[in-house]
Parts: sequence; C-alpha cells; structure tokens
Amino acid sequence: MPEQQLRNEAPGLAVLDGADVFVLVDNVSDALSSVPDDVTSEFDNLMEAGAESFSGDGFCFACFGISLMVTGRIGDQMRTILFDGGPTGLAVEHNAPRLGIDMAAVEAVVLSHGHIDHAGGLPAALALITAANGGRPVPVHVNPEMFLHRGERLDNGDVYPLEDIPSVEVLEEAGGQVENDPEPRLLLDGMFYLSGEIPRTTSYEKGIPVQVKRNAAGTNWKPDPWVMDERYLAVNVRDKGIMVFTACSHAGLINVLIHARDTFAPTPLFGVMGGFHLAGKIFEAIIPETVSDLEEFDLKVIVPGHCTGWRAVHRMVDTFGESIVVPSAVGRRHLF
Ligand SMILES: [Fe+2]
Repeated sequence: MPEQQLRNEAPGLAVLDGADVFVLVDNVSDALSSVPDDVTSEFDNLMEAGAESFSGDGFCFACFGISLMVTGRIGDQMRTILFDGGPTGLAVEHNAPRLGIDMAAVEAVVLSHGHIDHAGGLPAALALITAANGGRPVPVHVNPEMFLHRGERLDNGDVYPLEDIPSVEVLEEAGGQVENDPEPRLLLDGMFYLSGEIPRTTSYEKGIPVQVKRNAAGTNWKPDPWVMDERYLAVNVRDKGIMVFTACSHAGLINVLIHARDTFAPTPLFGVMGGFHLAGKIFEAIIPETVSDLEEFDLKVIVPGHCTGWRAVHRMVDTFGESIVVPSAVGRRHLF
C-alpha cells in the first residue's frame, strides 16, 4: 500500500486527553507487586470497589485469555470499548462486579480474532452490558474470517480442535449488534481506531505454523498459519501519541507496530499493551529478533500480557527497564 494512503487511513482519529484501561481478564494474577504511579493494583481496585476484607471469593480470576476495558476521555466525555472477552463467561462475571466495572458504559465491543481465549467470554459480557444499560443492543465488531473451524496439527498428524468461537447468531442473541466487516474503521466518534488486515512484512513472524482450518461441512483440514483475521485497536493520547492494543499478535508484534507507525505517522507511537505471543518453543525462538526490532519504535510504555510468556517479559525488562515495561495482571488499571 502506498505510504500516503496508509497515512490517510485514519485521518479522523480524535486526540484524547487520556485513556484508562482495566484488565478484566488476563493469564496472570499478581496483586502484590508494586506498580508505577499510573497503574493501580488489583487489591487497590477491589478495595476501591467496596471489598471490606481479603476474602477468598473476592479476588479476581486469572485464566488463559485477555479482556480489556478501554475508556477514552476528552474533557468530561468518556467513551468505553470492551476489547475481547477472555475465554469464558466465568471470569467476566466474577471479575467485573468485584472490580466495580460499570458495564453499562460499554458502547462497543471489539473481537480481535477468532480464537476462543478471546471470544468465549463475549456472550456473558454482552449479557452483563445489556442488563446494565436497559437492554440497548451493543455493536460488536468482528470480521468474516474469524468464523472458521480451527485446530492444531499435532506431531503425530492428528488434529486437536479449537473450540469454535460464538457465532454471529449467539452474539446477537446475547445483545450484540454484529458488524461483520474486514475493513478498518473509526469507532465511537473517532475516539478509537480498529485496524484492518495487518500486512506481514518481517521475515521471522510466521503466524502459527501448526494451525489448520476446515470448512463449514467439517471436512478437509487445511493449513491456516497466518490468522489473517487478527486486528488491533489504537487510540491517540494528547502529548503522548498512539497507544496500540494488540490482543494476541498473531500478525507478529513487530508487524503490528510497523502498521500502526505507518498508519499514524507523523504522530509517534507511545506504547503497546496486550498479548505478544512469544511463548511456546516456536515463538520463544524469535524473542531475540522481536525485542531487538522493538527498540526502533522508542516506545515509552510496554505492557506485555496474556500469551507473551515469561521469557519474553524478562528479555523486555532487561532491554528496556522497569520504567517502560510493566507486565500486565488481571484486575489492574492503567492510565495513559
Ligand atoms: Fe490469545
């Protein structure tokens, strides 16, 4: 795509006075570690929401997946998007009320890609949102390539299936108003940018080599390494720049950041938060190149979560330091 075209792809993205992100679901529970001033810990958030004691039932559930509540602020106007729903309604239903999250504030839902660890909790989240907002349907942004039967080819040649994500019908029954469109778009009066397809340009980010897909008839598993349905979310924060939210980075973290940089230039990238998918033998092998190439973006904040894995987190902390790298954990709130 010509550079000029990329630069004009999101001309209307609003400049926010700030963005506030609640980690509703993440793999990690880390309520005790101290956090920087612009982050509040799970314990602080539970107490703020009214928890009167440290009760066993009161802590957040951490589980394999991610769900972020992203609120953009301009003056006293606040608009909120739910970015993914984690793997199961159990986590969303447990965590949201304990954290005091106002589900009625969610005006749009974005699903990053068609994997169950991001989509399984969406029906429950939609039910909570519509129960809280008086039954108003909520736009749910997806794209057609998400709705595949997917699996993983094992070493012995068998296919281990991945649970299908909730269908368009299930999402609509739960209160969603599904917008099934592959193109990039601005959401909520231009306060948020949802990307389109992310070009694969680096030599070493190769998707999920073992992933396979099959057709609706359930026959014919075929290679499906690229996860081309993956999208990222971005906001533009005044005096900081573009904050990128990438839920699983199957496009490759560096490919995501290259696309974001080219899309929003000359506005600089400020930071990135989400799952960077650098865990597992295939992906751990590309940690050195990824972290090395990450340096060129000069990010001011890096929040690795979900599928990033401890080896990549350690490497990033070693390279960029604790003032930039703040690992994600369930129940935390980040201010940008
Ligand atoms: Fe994931």
